[in-house]
Amino acid sequence: MANIDYSQRSFSYYPTDAIISAKCIDGVWTEPELSSKFELALHPFAGVFHYAPSCFEGAKAFRGVDGKVRLFRPDQNALRMQSSAQYLDMPYPSVEMFVDMCVRCIQANWDYIPPYESGASLYLRPVLFGINPQLGIKSANDVMFVVMASGVGTYSGAKILSPGTAVLSRNYDRAATFGSGGYKLGANYAQSLHAYNIAHNQGYRELLFLDSATHSHIEEFGSSNFFAIKGNTYITTNSPSVLPSITNKCLRQVAREFGLKVEKRNIYVEELEHMEEVNSCGTAVVITPICQIDDKERLEDEKVTKTYRFANECGPISRKLYDRIIGIQKGLDEDTYNWCLIVDKK
Ligand SMILES: Cc1ncc(COP(=O)(O)O)c(C=O)c1O
Repeated sequence: MANIDYSQRSFSYYPTDAIISAKCIDGVWTEPELSSKFELALHPFAGVFHYAPSCFEGAKAFRGVDGKVRLFRPDQNALRMQSSAQYLDMPYPSVEMFVDMCVRCIQANWDYIPPYESGASLYLRPVLFGINPQLGIKSANDVMFVVMASGVGTYSGAKILSPGTAVLSRNYDRAATFGSGGYKLGANYAQSLHAYNIAHNQGYRELLFLDSATHSHIEEFGSSNFFAIKGNTYITTNSPSVLPSITNKCLRQVAREFGLKVEKRNIYVEELEHMEEVNSCGTAVVITPICQIDDKERLEDEKVTKTYRFANECGPISRKLYDRIIGIQKGLDEDTYNWCLIVDKK
């Protein structure tokens, strides 16, 4: 195993040994190829450089308490990538091909799977993008699918479950009402970066987007879903322009297992007043508790018109949900849902 101090690592790119890639040309996939060269030769007229036919995924592999390596729900990532590619009207890998290339990428980077005790994991980044030279605006005919990996620590270098602040985005939208927000397209992120930079430069960890039509209800954070606990209820948003988070789906399932009521519905901003535990959720860290949400007329304003405050630590119900998900990912709990794919060393 590589001699790496994972305690110093954040959610960032760190070099590994290999990537695996395949191309779909005229509807036919090439054999996936492993490569230790972290370079791709692409035609400068490839659509990805111009009209952004590009989507991606994020999945994680964990070294468990029993030494086994578990890849968490890769089939769900494969299906979500298929739905993103269908939206872009371009070819995509089958679920089998997607999962097989993820497994081969893990095996080729075996020495970079962090040890169990580190709390770190091997993050997989599958990307699919249009490669055929084109000038006219149309969907990609030919695509490249690449799976790469990075051994990552906790997001932003923050301690596990350390609470963060957020600000509402009233004058920047992440996704249009009938737009592409429900798909994991690179373009969605490109267009939210500017607003994110403003929030980050003001010291906020998260930016919370609202529905673009009325700005009255909560959609999601820039790279994670929103969920809250009120009494015995798990409440999350219900909008076609919110990315269907795999973590949120798992949390809902676990919440039901724990006897919580689960509501997927519009959550109006004013309701924040009555929420007991507020969190963001996603693959990167499962849950980030939110201790404060500021409301402003414009993100650029110094003046805060309203502040919603929550506990300065992860709430007890959220903590229980977190422990169950982490327990399954790390082999501490029985995988009753069959979520983990055990990956063997090659
Ligand atoms: C916009 C957005 N929402 C939600 C999520 C969380 O999704 P998941 O739980 O599948 O990682 C992500 C991260 O993937 C994201 O980028």
